[in-house]
Amino acid sequence: MRLILRSPGGELGGGLATIPLRPDNGMAPSTPALDSTPVQQVTGKEPRVSPREHLIERADYAATLEPLEYNPFMPEVHEDPYPLYDRLRREDPVHWNLPGVWICTRYPDVVGMLRNPRFSSDSRNSDLYQTFAESVDVDLGIFDQEGARSMLFVDPPDHTRLRAIVSKAFTSRAIEAMRPHVQSLVDELLDQAAATGTFDVVADLAYPLPVTVICEMLGVPLEDREVFRSWADDLVLLLDPMVTMDVLDIGNRAAIAFHEYFGRLVAERRRHPQPGLLTDLIEAEEHGQRLTENELIVTLILLLVAGHETTVNLISNGMLALLRHPDQMRRLRQDPSLIRTAVEEMLRFDSPVQLTGRTALEDMEIGGRPVRKRQQVVGVVGAANRDPAQFSDPNTFDIGREDNRHLAFGSGIHFCLGAPLARMEAQVSFLAIARRFDTLELATERLQWRDTITLRGLRALRVATR
Ligand code: HEM
Repeated sequence: MRLILRSPGGELGGGLATIPLRPDNGMAPSTPALDSTPVQQVTGKEPRVSPREHLIERADYAATLEPLEYNPFMPEVHEDPYPLYDRLRREDPVHWNLPGVWICTRYPDVVGMLRNPRFSSDSRNSDLYQTFAESVDVDLGIFDQEGARSMLFVDPPDHTRLRAIVSKAFTSRAIEAMRPHVQSLVDELLDQAAATGTFDVVADLAYPLPVTVICEMLGVPLEDREVFRSWADDLVLLLDPMVTMDVLDIGNRAAIAFHEYFGRLVAERRRHPQPGLLTDLIEAEEHGQRLTENELIVTLILLLVAGHETTVNLISNGMLALLRHPDQMRRLRQDPSLIRTAVEEMLRFDSPVQLTGRTALEDMEIGGRPVRKRQQVVGVVGAANRDPAQFSDPNTFDIGREDNRHLAFGSGIHFCLGAPLARMEAQVSFLAIARRFDTLELATERLQWRDTITLRGLRALRVATR
């Protein structure tokens, strides 16, 4: 079996080289791969460092009791990545990962990467992508087309143009105007959920709320949500650092299905315009000619998928943190004015987006390590958000934390466009929960995390009310 180091996904992914997968999904060179391809041959270039640096590097490495590897696929790491993040931050904060990327876990390095214009969000600028494009044997039709990359994966000036077209709809003021409506949606969902005494926070609140809101904002029929839920779930698999060829194929199909769906919907809305962002985008395309049809469609896909796949994790991870820290739950009940800092702490403590990647546009140094032009760098946001040099007692969940400049929404020019919306939805949800339930307990023996690495969230979270 072969793995792909970041996918080509125009809408969502990055795109890179293949590496063999060993039985435990590990990446250690010492273990023979399942297929016979020698690991060195397919994992990209080793970083070019001086012999002395090599020595220091190997000495450091040998000094650790166990080899330190960034392997987010190990079940225990997947369940709780934070102990590994602590070790990486301490022992090897700019870590050369076997498949050929740098893994940064310290706050200053991650924020530096996100704000540095010498890094590109377009993975086609990397050597690994080129290796990938040459080696992969699936049809990349859609991903290869002009304008097939969303704003998330392009640089200025395209990024500036694409972001400007939709940014008005997501300003804090526009989002605040939606608060009363979101409140009524939350009340309705909680009325239904609470009726039976136990409910699933994911299925009954965290998923339906953001999906309903983003569908309404875009002007996409809500009744289609079951159809595109599975496409959204499939598409975000492409965001992960490594995917199998099978997963690439699944993601590719989802992208094609989404394209066809939105192609039809755009044609329909051209004939019969209806209020919503979708129609606004069509008008922007027709009048200003600032947007191609492909760009229009990938923007819609990005917004719809972001609306599906991230806020759900904020609400469920945040709920889990409150359930595991009943003192903080009591604190919120007693002082609802803490809601703003509480949601920021949820974003920091168990970040819904754990990592993001960039490609170096020139040679540089990060934390004393030589990062070469066209190499890829991963910023582990989830680790930066627990950096003790930035946050006091970072492993403590404190809903009153004031100095909380977390990176859960990224930083710099790609800072999350949907942040005001996600924050507002979470604030309304947790205030309603705190006010409504005197007690709320975990009603699940074993938590099941979603398979994704980049996006961290629960499949289900059953709670009991009393
Ligand atoms: C808790 C929920 C959310 C989290 C944690 C989150 C996280 C992020 C992060 C980390 C980035 C930057 C990625 C990078 O720099 O590589 C980002 C970008 C983005 N997010 Fe979110 N997001 C959330 C909700 C949303 C929602 C609800 C929407 C819209 C419906 C949205 C739309 C976007 C868009 C369009 C971008 C790209 C911005 C750009 O490239 O300029 N996000 N998000």
